[in-house]
Amino acid sequence: MIALGIETSCDDTSVGIVDQSGRILSQFRASQDRVHKEWGGIVPELASRAHLENIIPVIDIAIKEAGITVADIDLLVCAYGPGLVGSLLVGIETTKALALAWKKPLVGVNHLRGHIAAVMLAKPNIEMPSLGLLISGGHSEILFVEPDYSVTIIGETRDDAAGETLDKFGRVLGLSYPAGPEIDRMASIGDTNAIHFPITRMKDGGSDFSFSGLKTAGVKAIEKFPQMRKEDLAASFMKAVADQLLDKLVQATEKVEAKSLFAVGGVASSAYIRDRLNKLGDSLGLTVNIPPPSLCTDNGTMIAYAGLQYHQLGHKSSMDLYPVSRLSVVSM
Ligand code: KG4
Ligand code: ZN
Repeated sequence: MIALGIETSCDDTSVGIVDQSGRILSQFRASQDRVHKEWGGIVPELASRAHLENIIPVIDIAIKEAGITVADIDLLVCAYGPGLVGSLLVGIETTKALALAWKKPLVGVNHLRGHIAAVMLAKPNIEMPSLGLLISGGHSEILFVEPDYSVTIIGETRDDAAGETLDKFGRVLGLSYPAGPEIDRMASIGDTNAIHFPITRMKDGGSDFSFSGLKTAGVKAIEKFPQMRKEDLAASFMKAVADQLLDKLVQATEKVEAKSLFAVGGVASSAYIRDRLNKLGDSLGLTVNIPPPSLCTDNGTMIAYAGLQYHQLGHKSSMDLYPVSRLSVVSM
């Protein structure tokens, strides 16, 4: 069975084509980084317009690169939330129109479930139940995933997301949006111990994250040490973000019986965080599954693969499918 997945929940128009065995036939993305760069963040109106311009050409390229024809596609999938309503609408309405025109079944999937599906796509038969981090521009959660794909939130951010924190710190450091990849590059050459940022811990000892205090401390450090190399500031900040992610993840391993660890979402493409997680897995005696960076950042392939999982469970959507801006990872 072959699925075509459309991802337009935020600022990238991405289409992926994958089969049930997890073989990726194609993945193509039109980035909007250039559109939003000068604003230092995503402008929703500009994002929807760019999706409108890109969606048909991106679908066209993905089908051509897969070396298939429309007749070979068995399932059309799109992300229906969470995300920007105007952006989601473009993907949803396009998918509905194609489902009607091509007479194919349609499934709307939760974008966050798509991120989780990327783990199984990269490695079918992962050791379940699995405990992991969903770390992106809008989300920071510790999740417990069971073999029937049910998800429990063990911890979540009480304020900013990890990616958002990196992007905001990077903006003050003078880096362009999104700053995460550049901070990650600097973390490989800078001194991660140039500045020590303490780990934020919850008064109730829970596994929730809080990044707003760290963000303020990072901005103050940039002002306090104007002579310090950007690389050292960035490396120390990246270490502080990772320290908190790992500290809460270790706490969570004491609450549930996990057989493996995972990480997904844009921030999980960080080489620094991947390395820290792999070392943590070694010390805990748990396998760590992190999809390749191309499947960590938003992509249509993870949406297509989640659609195949939904289909297997008997889910399908109708022409009533509508965007849901706020949607928990617990929901299908
Ligand atoms: O999952 P994603 O592509 O989109 C959302 O759903 O948010 O994540 C985007 C976030 C941004 O904050 C970006 O700075 C961060 O992921 N990011 C990275 C890296 N690549 C993307 N952060 C650290 N290191 C990277 N290599
Ligand atoms: Zn995402």
